[in-house]
Amino acid sequence: MKLRKYTRRQVLATTGAAAAALAAPTILRAQAPIVIKFSHVVATDTPKGKGADYFKKLAEERTKGRVKVEVYPNSTLYKDREEVEALQLGSVHMLAPSLAKFGPLGVREFELFDLPYIFDNYTELHGITEGPIGQALLKKLESKGITGLAYWDNGFKVMSANKPLKKPEDFKGVKMRIQSSKVLESQMRALGAIPQVMAFSEVYQALQTGVVDGTENPPSNLYTQKMHEVQKYVTLSDHGYLGYAVITNKKFWDGLPADVRTALEGAMKDATRYANEIAKKENDDALEAVRKSGKSQILTLTPEEKKAWKKVLVKVHRENEDRVGKDLIASIYKATGFDPNA
Ligand code: LMR
Repeated sequence: MKLRKYTRRQVLATTGAAAAALAAPTILRAQAPIVIKFSHVVATDTPKGKGADYFKKLAEERTKGRVKVEVYPNSTLYKDREEVEALQLGSVHMLAPSLAKFGPLGVREFELFDLPYIFDNYTELHGITEGPIGQALLKKLESKGITGLAYWDNGFKVMSANKPLKKPEDFKGVKMRIQSSKVLESQMRALGAIPQVMAFSEVYQALQTGVVDGTENPPSNLYTQKMHEVQKYVTLSDHGYLGYAVITNKKFWDGLPADVRTALEGAMKDATRYANEIAKKENDDALEAVRKSGKSQILTLTPEEKKAWKKVLVKVHRENEDRVGKDLIASIYKATGFDPNA
C-alpha cells in the first residue's frame, strides 16, 4: 500500500482542525443558550400556566443551561390567533392553544373535542388523546409546519351569564362569547344563543361592558380572569371539554441538537404528567373560590334539565359530521361507548 505524503502545512492544518474539534465543547458551552419562547393566553395560576412553568424548570435543569425557556402568560406577547401565526413564522417557539383553536389553521378534526357531551370524564378523554386517534391528529399538524408535542388538560366547561341558564330556552337571544370553533358556534346556535368569536384576552371587558352577555369556560379560566365578578350566574353544565395541544415550530424543533431535543422531550413528558394531574383540582379549587367570593350564584342542573340540554346539544354532532369527520366521530363513540340516541 502506498502511503500518501503530507506537507508540513497540511499536517499543521489537520492538527489545527483536530484541536478545534476538541475545543468545540468548550466553545459550545460558552455560547448563548437556545431560547424557547413559550407564549400562552391564560393566567400563571391555571393548569396550563403551571404546566408551562414546570416545563421551563425541567427543561432548563436537564439541559444544564443550554436551553432557556421564556414563558409569556396572559396574552402578553400574542393573542389567540396571532400566536399561531407567530409560531409558524418562528417568532415564538412553543404554544399550547386550546383544541378549539385549530380549525382556522385548517385542521378541523380537532373540533371533535368541542362536541357537546362527547366525553363524560378525563379517563374517556385520555383514552383518545393518549391513543392512536390523538397521535394521528397531532401528525396532521406537520403539514402546517407544526410539531404536536403533547395534550394538556384543562377541564369541563361551565356556562355563565347575568341571567340563570337552566333550560335550553334560557339561551334564546343571549350573546355568548366563543372560541374560534365552528362546532362551538353550532352548539350555541342549537341552544338559541348568538355566538360571538372573540380572543380570550378580550372576554372580561366584553362581559363587563355588555358587548356579550355570557360565556363558557372551565372554572379555572373563569376565576383567574375574574369573569365571575361580571357574571351573576354560573351553571355547572359540564357540557364540553376544554384542553390543549402543546405545539412547536417544526423547523425549530428538528433543528435542535439531538441531545437537547431528547432532553426537552423528556421534560415535556414529565410536565404533561404534572399538568394533567393538577387540572381537576385546579378547577375544583377555582369553583370553590368563585362560590366563596359570593359574586356569582352557582347553579346545578336537575337530571331533567340535563336531559333537556343533552337532547338539544347532541344534534350538534350530526350537524358537524362533514366538518369533523363522520368516521372520526364514530370511532370516538366506539372508544368511549357514547350513544347519541340514549
Ligand atoms: C379560551 O379562549 O376561552 C380558552 O381557550 C383560553 C385557554 O387557553 O384556556
